[in-house]
Amino acid sequence: MERLQKIIANSGYCSRRKAEELILNGKVKVNGEVVNTLGSKASYNDTIVINGVTLKLENKEYILLYKPRGVLSSAHDDKGRKTVTDIVDSLNRLYPVGRLDYDTSGLILLTNDGELTNLLIHPSHEVEKVYIAKIDDVVIPSKVKSLEKGVIIDGKKTGKAKVKIKKIDKKKKCSIIELTIYEGRNHQVKKMFEAIGYYVSKLKRERFSFLTLDGLKSGEYRHLNIKEVKKLYAVCKNVK
Ligand code: URA
Repeated sequence: MERLQKIIANSGYCSRRKAEELILNGKVKVNGEVVNTLGSKASYNDTIVINGVTLKLENKEYILLYKPRGVLSSAHDDKGRKTVTDIVDSLNRLYPVGRLDYDTSGLILLTNDGELTNLLIHPSHEVEKVYIAKIDDVVIPSKVKSLEKGVIIDGKKTGKAKVKIKKIDKKKKCSIIELTIYEGRNHQVKKMFEAIGYYVSKLKRERFSFLTLDGLKSGEYRHLNIKEVKKLYAVCKNVK
């Protein structure tokens, strides 16, 4: 059960404030009865009619997917390539929260909660994202560390970042770097490394805010529990 105005707003019919107005003006019916007080609660299984229009209500669904490489992070592809929504079994129309490149693996959320999606992808909320990048080179630590000061990509300096050098393998001529960022610009991690002269040959997102891939193999997914969903909302609301 949830407050009626919240259910109406979540359906996309109008804002929460407008929904309150409609309720007070006696324009909203729940299961055939006019509800004109603001404390009322309803469920997503109720039939809610506003000015004669029946709302389409979907239960909110939140999925954490370990996206494999070679899968598109969109809801549909005109060229028929496999997308993240092909992997998950759901009756709802789910959309990814942000994007991972076709050749990037790792954690991606899928949901039909547009409000949470917008909060999570808004740059001002600075949601932490942790990536593991493989570089086919023996990196110079000071050069990689310079990513923390910001580099120019697409004409704009990148924001705060944290770098951890996990491994430099001189024999195999490769390095593994953990990069934490708080923005979500297009191909951001690859472009940041490119800006300092390195090419990312493999990329994986290991963490999104407090959520990790623990317990999942590539291609597997799980539903978030209510505590995790509330925590995601709180993460966004705590940041100015
Ligand atoms: N940065 C990238 O370059 N690619 C991704 O998929 C995610 C972040």
